[in-house]
Amino acid sequence: MDRKRIILDCDPGHDDAVAIILAAVNPNIDLLGITVSAGNQTVEKTKVNACRVLQWIGKTDIPVYPGCPRPIVREPYIADFIHGESGLDGPVFPPLTKMPEEDHGVNFIVKTLRESEGDVIVVTTGPMTNLAMAMRMAPGIVEKIKRIVVMGGSVANGNVTPAAEYNIWADAEAAYICFTSGRPITMVGLDVTRKVLCYPEIVERMERVGTGASKLFVDLMGHFCKTQKEVFGYDGGPLHDPVTIAYLIEPELIKTQQMNVTIEIKGENSYGRTNCDTFDFLGKPATADVAMDINVEGFWNLIERELARVD
Ligand code: BDR
Ligand code: CA
Repeated sequence: MDRKRIILDCDPGHDDAVAIILAAVNPNIDLLGITVSAGNQTVEKTKVNACRVLQWIGKTDIPVYPGCPRPIVREPYIADFIHGESGLDGPVFPPLTKMPEEDHGVNFIVKTLRESEGDVIVVTTGPMTNLAMAMRMAPGIVEKIKRIVVMGGSVANGNVTPAAEYNIWADAEAAYICFTSGRPITMVGLDVTRKVLCYPEIVERMERVGTGASKLFVDLMGHFCKTQKEVFGYDGGPLHDPVTIAYLIEPELIKTQQMNVTIEIKGENSYGRTNCDTFDFLGKPATADVAMDINVEGFWNLIERELARVD
């Protein structure tokens, strides 16, 4: 099987950290590089966090590039009420030896796509600022993108406003640019990520894996599940971002439906909403494959298997 070549653009972030682990350790994924945006925390912190995770799992050869320090139009909105002061509160990380690259994340995305043969998948698990900026900076790269897989949006309601999901809302203009790029998009939204709740028995099950990666998972979930309970009342934290990588590893875990999706950038109350025409009311061309359901047990089996790969 050909390895899937991907760029992971993220804002770690507890669930981003688990997405990084999956992408870095799965043998069928070729993680070309990680770019980080401002989102769950500042870009100064998210770049350090990406390095911390890679160092923990011994994947220090994967480069980390700092991206845009703020959204294109909006002011930054840091989600420290979920992810804490560091953006990755919970685990006690050793002193940092893995360092981020000097070059900018947008340059890395442009260069990698330019030099590719149209086989690179861009996965975004944070605000879509870096990818949108890359598209505007070098429009020629757009046709080189094989697919965009985005954790973001929701057919149903949001998690930062009644209408909007955090990653889309945090930089809706960026999401608008990406969703109107004409490239194939898989939207992994809250409709499925809210089904993979990391209950205490799941944390215990992952602890039994007994590797360094599973220890990191457990330490991360300690903080994440606590704040998810405080803010949303969930008895287990929704493991949003790893669903994107799980989808690339085992596509059959996710059921998708093609539909027209537009990003709301003008609405006062609905800014950042993903308008998903599930019933094809509008009769407009489909613009995205939207994740509608997930095999929950299959997802946890996958997480368990991947955590067992590295010590
Ligand atoms: C998204 O928001 C962030 O806080 C998480 O990391 C995830 O990417 C979920 O809405
Ligand atoms: Ca994220």
